[in-house]
Amino acid sequence: MSDWTIGIIGGSGLYAMDALEDAQWIPVQSPWGVPSDDILCGKIGHVRVRFLPRHGRGHRLAPSTVNAQANIDALKRAGCTDILAASAVGSLSEELSPGRFVTIDQFIDNTRGRPSSFFGDGFVAHVSMADPVCPRLSKYAAKAVATAGGECAQGATYVAIEGPQFSTRAESRLYRHWGAEVIGMTAMPEARLAREAELPYALLAMVTDYDSWKDDAATVDVAQVVEQMRGNAKLARKAIEAFCKGLPKKRSPSPIDHALTDAVITTPERHD
Ligand code: ADE
Repeated sequence: MSDWTIGIIGGSGLYAMDALEDAQWIPVQSPWGVPSDDILCGKIGHVRVRFLPRHGRGHRLAPSTVNAQANIDALKRAGCTDILAASAVGSLSEELSPGRFVTIDQFIDNTRGRPSSFFGDGFVAHVSMADPVCPRLSKYAAKAVATAGGECAQGATYVAIEGPQFSTRAESRLYRHWGAEVIGMTAMPEARLAREAELPYALLAMVTDYDSWKDDAATVDVAQVVEQMRGNAKLARKAIEAFCKGLPKKRSPSPIDHALTDAVITTPERHD
């Protein structure tokens, strides 16, 4: 075994991983609440894998009820060194047509009221989110899609909305003006929490639809998302397998392993 332990967060359509050897579902407790599901632990090649379906097996959890704090904490407790998340997304860009894969490099968080930090209750930290994903993992992810026989664009801005409703036409056009290229409901605050947990995080987005900004295409609905996801899921599974097998045997340290080093502002002295 190498020193990588990869947490895979599976999005819509990815609820298990056939490629895992010695796979076993294991419950993990978290003081932050109940994670989306047990964690499927196993290995792929030289890499330990901890797989967590974001919406739970059978897709039981709506985006607003996914407990991202518990999920990230559970993956940290399960020994993960890094996280590769996969998500179905809508496209806000002509070039990113349904069926395309793209790695995300920026986020706009338009979710409302989701707990988005592990800090604040007597202990304050401000981590940098300027570069919210791990470039090294993102590159390995894009390469893995190619190895699996697909194509993957590199770098796109993801706008996270609260959902569960899809956007209005006006919202969809607004997000394009903001510079967002894809839209989803779940990668925030997940990516923020991964950074606070000092876990390098990459997001492989799989385009299922053109959301609702396009005059010449049908507006998004669940049937379209599910049908396209069925097509995407096979490539996603192969890409995740290739991602693990393609990682170097030795994991060199990432700066994100120490994201909290200069982030804590609370002084250790008492002030009462
Ligand atoms: N997930 C997949 N397609 C989506 C869309 N159009 N909006 C938000 N989340 C999505």
